[in-house]
Amino acid sequence: MSKIATLEIGGKKYEFPIIEGTEKELGIDIKTLRGATDSVITIDPGYKNTGACESAITYLDGEKGILRYRGYSIEELAEKADFLEVAYLLIFGDLPKLEELAKFHADIKEQSVVDDDVKKILDAFPKTAHPMGVLSCLTSALTAFNPSTVDVESEEEMYKSTVKILGKFPVLVAWTMRKQKGLPLNYGDTSLGYVENIMKMMYEKPNEQYEQNNILLNALDKLLILHADHEQNCSTSTVRMVGSSHAGLYASLSAGISALWGPLHGGANQAVLEMLEAIKEDGGDTEKFMAKAKDKSDSFRLMGFGHRVYKNFDPRAKIIKVAADEVLADLGIEDPVLDIAKGLSEEALRDAYFVDRKLYPNVDFYSGIIYRAMGIPVEMFTVMFALGRLPGWIAQWKEMRMRKEPIGRPRQIYIGENNRPFIDIEKR
Ligand code: CMC
Repeated sequence: MSKIATLEIGGKKYEFPIIEGTEKELGIDIKTLRGATDSVITIDPGYKNTGACESAITYLDGEKGILRYRGYSIEELAEKADFLEVAYLLIFGDLPKLEELAKFHADIKEQSVVDDDVKKILDAFPKTAHPMGVLSCLTSALTAFNPSTVDVESEEEMYKSTVKILGKFPVLVAWTMRKQKGLPLNYGDTSLGYVENIMKMMYEKPNEQYEQNNILLNALDKLLILHADHEQNCSTSTVRMVGSSHAGLYASLSAGISALWGPLHGGANQAVLEMLEAIKEDGGDTEKFMAKAKDKSDSFRLMGFGHRVYKNFDPRAKIIKVAADEVLADLGIEDPVLDIAKGLSEEALRDAYFVDRKLYPNVDFYSGIIYRAMGIPVEMFTVMFALGRLPGWIAQWKEMRMRKEPIGRPRQIYIGENNRPFIDIEKR
């Protein structure tokens, strides 16, 4: 196949190289388009056909339902690795050796204390504040307490900023949940595993010994792995875009958290549970809600269904569905909401509207059911997504900075008024 794409505009031909990825994906390299032509640009709202970068982190084939981090399948990682190993893999490119993982964890633990003044910022929020807003704010505030994390030019500086945020972010996540629940702020116990300590920080009560539940620990570890990266999604693109202006890592992450918050992205896990609850409250008539989802005059969408990239089963949803069944069985929980979820997905998978549009359950369809079984408040669900996505955001930000990518600055086609004379206010 020719490695050149030819574009004809007004009878004139222009040639552009076609680049090929390691999985044989093709992209037309239009870097010279505007300069070579009469300032012609491409228009692609929602970037449905636009590659923003070359990346060596995550490979995704939405047609075949494949997801791999650094070449390793998500199925194998979810089964065999733990979250910290996956974080290392994403950020540094290879699975860690035992001693590398031990050093990484020790360096993270060393950095896991948050300046006590951060508590004052948290204190100023009402208890009713949405945890994603609180988390975004606290993450941004970390820059003020750690100004050396802004000018990151070398691997060494990047490493320091990385272990700092991996140490402090779970504390912020746990404090956000504790604040909402009215629990005193704590620090857990860094002699525990990374995720184990997150659980302790989240659940520990001031008046009783915290006991680890291994079923929940394994479920959370798996969920975090499944959320750890997903190439150039909305929040990751935001992190890369903000970082491309050489804003610091934590400011970029804070922006990523805000992007993740929306119900079309990470906020879908909260929206799914709220939708399932609403269906239950309404009497459990799933067909009625299916009809609403298909009705173009109704803004209701089946939350947890459909994906920009997956036109097949989201491989993460398959793993989470099995995990949800296991967790509920192990804990002896019978959740009517799970039955509604099962009913909805079976109906949707048979329905021509969903089949024709290739709308399958996505990662968020089942994750909320596990979070709920874990006793995590529904408003915290997207915070849990952010906790999982953190290594991916760091890896992508690092890749963007280390490759010295230019500032992100799309163009536009102007469709407003042409030049017109100013009219004095009294004559308008
Ligand atoms: N319910 C009903 N119809 C839908 C849905 C849905 N959940 N998703 C897409 N459609 C329809 C849509 O109306 C359109 O129909 P038509 O061709 O007749 O106009 C067609 O399917 C294509 O949809 P689109 O909105 O053009 O697709 P998109 O790639 O722009 O949007 C999406 C992807 C995820 C935003 C969308 O599927 C959606 O809103 N899903 C529900 C929210 C959700 O679960 N989001 C979580 C995504 S996974 C977590 C993450 O990584 O962010």
